[in-house]
Amino acid sequence: MTNQNKYILALDQGTTSSRAIVFNRQGHIMAVAQREFEQHFPQSGWVEHDAEEIWSTQSGVAQEAITRAGLRASNIAAIGITNQRETTLVWDRGTGQPIHNAIVWQDRRTAELCDRLRAEGKDELIREKTGLLLDAYFSGTKVKWILDHVPGARQAAEAGELAFGTVDSWLVYNLTGGQLHITDASNASRTLLYNIHTGDWDDELLALLDVPRSMLPEVRSSSEVYGETAEGLFGSRIPIAGIAGDQQAATFGQACLERGMAKNTYGTGCFMLMNTEQEAVPSQNQLLTTVGWQLGGERTYALEGSVFIGGAVVQWLRDGLGIIRSSEEVERLAARVPDTGGAYLVPAFTGLGAPYWDPYARGTLVGLTRSTSAAHIARAALEAVAFQSAELLQAMQSDSGLELKELRVDGGASRNNLMMQFQADLLGVPVVRPKVTETTALGAAYLAGLAVHYWDSTDAIEQGWAVDQTFEPQMSADERDSRMAEWRRAVERSRGWIQ
Ligand code: G3P
Repeated sequence: MTNQNKYILALDQGTTSSRAIVFNRQGHIMAVAQREFEQHFPQSGWVEHDAEEIWSTQSGVAQEAITRAGLRASNIAAIGITNQRETTLVWDRGTGQPIHNAIVWQDRRTAELCDRLRAEGKDELIREKTGLLLDAYFSGTKVKWILDHVPGARQAAEAGELAFGTVDSWLVYNLTGGQLHITDASNASRTLLYNIHTGDWDDELLALLDVPRSMLPEVRSSSEVYGETAEGLFGSRIPIAGIAGDQQAATFGQACLERGMAKNTYGTGCFMLMNTEQEAVPSQNQLLTTVGWQLGGERTYALEGSVFIGGAVVQWLRDGLGIIRSSEEVERLAARVPDTGGAYLVPAFTGLGAPYWDPYARGTLVGLTRSTSAAHIARAALEAVAFQSAELLQAMQSDSGLELKELRVDGGASRNNLMMQFQADLLGVPVVRPKVTETTALGAAYLAGLAVHYWDSTDAIEQGWAVDQTFEPQMSADERDSRMAEWRRAVERSRGWIQ
C-alpha cells in the first residue's frame, strides 16, 4: 500500500470552536489543535459568526495540528471536513468576501417567515421533498433573509455574482483558493432546498424561497477527491477528499454502518441518528429524515432527532443555580441520593426540540417536597437528558419499525457514568461508549481516507471501533414505563408556557 508514512487530517468546524485532528492508520489521535471564536448576538434570538474568523481559526488549527504531530503537509494523505450544519454563508464570487456574517443554525430570525409558509400550507411539500420540518433551524429561509436584507444582494444573486454555502462549502472554497464551490449530500440535506430523493436542488423549493439556482454549490458525494489545497497554504498541496455534516460524520465514525444502528451525541444538545440504509424513512413522530452520507452514487439515509438542552443543563446547574462549581462535580452530587425523590426537571429553556418542536415551552421543575435537595435536582437534571433521548429513540423505533440492539454514545457528557447507566435503564438496551469519542472528526477522516485508499473499505472503521464501557439495563420494564409516563406528565406542564 502507498501512503506508508502518511496520516489523515480532519477539520471539525463546530459551533463554538474550530478543531483539527491528525489520525493515524489505526484511527488513533496523533495531535489535536483547537481555537474558540466569537459568538455574535446582534438581537434577541439572533446568532451570527464572522465568516472570516471561521476560516482563520480553522486554517490556523489545521497548520497547528500538523506541526504538533511533528509532521509536514506532505505527510498528510488527505483532508476530511466536518462542520456545524445549516449555518448559512453568502459571499461575492468576484472578491471571495462574505456579504454578511454567517447566520448560525441556532438563529431564530426567520421563525415568522416559517409561520407564514406554514399558514400557506407549504410544510407538507417541504417535508416530502427534504425530509425536514419547516423551521428556522435550516438554511433555506436564512439565505432568503440575507438576499432580502443586504442592499443590492438580490440583484447581485440574480446576476450570478453571489455564492451560497454551508460551512463546508466556505472552507473548501477558501482551502482551494476560490477554485471549488461544492458541498456534499449530507450538508445539502439540511438546507430546505435539496430534494433528498432525487439528490438535486429542487426548483420548486428554490422558487418558494426565492433563491436563484446560480448561487448554489455543486452537490458531491461525501467521499471523493474534490481537489487540492491551494499552493502555499500548507507548504505542499493536500487532497481534500471527505465532507459530511458533523452529526452524520459522527454516525460514520461510530461505525453505525448498518440499518437500525444508532448513535447519540451528548454535547450542548443531543443529536441522535439512526441509519436506515437506502430507505428515506418518513417520520410520523416529528423526526427528521436526512442524508447520512453518500458514497459513490449511493445515499445512506438516517432518521434524526435533536434535543436542544443536553449537557447544557449541567452548565445551568453550575452557572444558573450555582449548586456545583465544575461540570465534573455533578456526578458526585447526584450520586449522594438514590433517586430524585419524585422530582422532575424539564430543561425546556429554549423550547422543546424533537419530538415536540414546541418553541413556546419553558423549563419546569415539578414534584418538589420539603426534603428535595440540591442532590435531587442534580440527579433530576441528569435524568432529564436521558429521558429526552429515550423519547427520541422511541420515536425512531416507531418510525422505522426497527428494534435497537444497542445505542452508541459520544460527546462530553457521555463520560458521565451515572447518566449513561440511567440511559441504558430507560432504553432497555445496552449503551456503549467507544474508546475514541472524537467520532465526528474520525468520521470525516474515514470519509477522506477511503477516497484516497488510505483505508481500503469501511471494514477499517469497524475494526478501529473499540468499546470503552458498556452499560447494561438494570431497570424492570414496569418501572421504566412508569418513569417514562411521569416524565411525560412533567413535559406536559412545561408546554405552551409562553403565550
Ligand atoms: O445541526 C447543528 C449541529 O450540526 C451543530 O453541532 O457540535 O457544532 O454544536 P455542534
